[in-house]
Amino acid sequence: MLVLGIESSCDDTAAAVWEDGTVRANVVSSQADLHEEYGGVVPELASRNHQRLIVPVVQRALTKAEVDAEGLDAVAVTYGPGLPGSLLVGLSFAKAFARGLDIPLIGVNHLEGHVCSVDLEGPRLGRPFLCLVVSGGHTELVRVDENAQHEVLGRTRDDAAGEAFDKVAQLFGLGYPGGPDIDRHAETGDPAFHDFPRSRLDGFDFSFSGLKTSVLYYLRDRSAAERKRLLADHLDDLCAAVQAAVVDVLVDAMRRAVEETGGEHVAVVGGVAANSSLRRRMGVLGREAGVDVSVPALTYCMDNAAMIAQAGARRLSAGHTSPAALDVHPNLQL
Ligand code: KG4
Ligand code: ZN
Repeated sequence: MLVLGIESSCDDTAAAVWEDGTVRANVVSSQADLHEEYGGVVPELASRNHQRLIVPVVQRALTKAEVDAEGLDAVAVTYGPGLPGSLLVGLSFAKAFARGLDIPLIGVNHLEGHVCSVDLEGPRLGRPFLCLVVSGGHTELVRVDENAQHEVLGRTRDDAAGEAFDKVAQLFGLGYPGGPDIDRHAETGDPAFHDFPRSRLDGFDFSFSGLKTSVLYYLRDRSAAERKRLLADHLDDLCAAVQAAVVDVLVDAMRRAVEETGGEHVAVVGGVAANSSLRRRMGVLGREAGVDVSVPALTYCMDNAAMIAQAGARRLSAGHTSPAALDVHPNLQL
């Protein structure tokens, strides 16, 4: 089965060609540089750029995979959650493309796509598995069963983990998205430099807005000169301390979930799964708790269309296709 995947839910325009479990091409055109000067994604700019990029990105994926559009069996596309204008560009293109080729259209939940990124490489992770979906817009702990059904054990009540990194990075005067910058600075910093709060809610829910506020107050309580000196002398330490607070909360939730559910297989997916400390700490958890840990390669942690194609192929095999009237669902949940 040869599937074209399309992803345009936020600021990455992506297309991939997937054939029977193998990714033949995975093209992502990031707009990060464009949005950086605004300190976040500007929805109107994002959708305009998706419009400009969608055709060349799909063409590049087909060329790389050495596939003719006529050889495709289906088109899988993200229809939510995400920015409405951004989703619309990918979905409208996918509908027209599928209709033109007279092949099925499969709408894919972006979060289900992230969960599927676990199976893009290497041996298939055992089922059921506990999956932490951590990105710029989402923080969910789910249990995925043999039939790809998801049971949400907990989710964030306010900011997502990636959002916390991005907002704190902005307070530190770093670029957008902030996660990679914080990760880089934290490499040489001291995580014990300051004890930022770790929210522990009942069950497996998360809260990261307190961390952002705490960093805000920490900086605001100083004179401008002091703040400048602190950021000049201790940026690496502050990044390490913030990263430790986020990672502690995520790893702690996963550890408790393993203990409470007796899970044997765990995974971390989404942009924040690219965080080097989180990856290391999950490895440690795996060894200590005797569980099998899967974290996708960095390219598959970030938004990409290979994961959408994989999720779409799975849906198609289960007999699902989407109607031509499928609309975008900006607030879709798992
Ligand atoms: O999954 P993704 O590419 O897009 C969404 O669906 O949101 O995730 C992007 C998020 C951003 O918040 C970014 O700061 C974060 O993932 N991120 C990281 C790292 N790389 C990306 N956060 C922490 N450490 C990283 N190395
Ligand atoms: Zn994502």
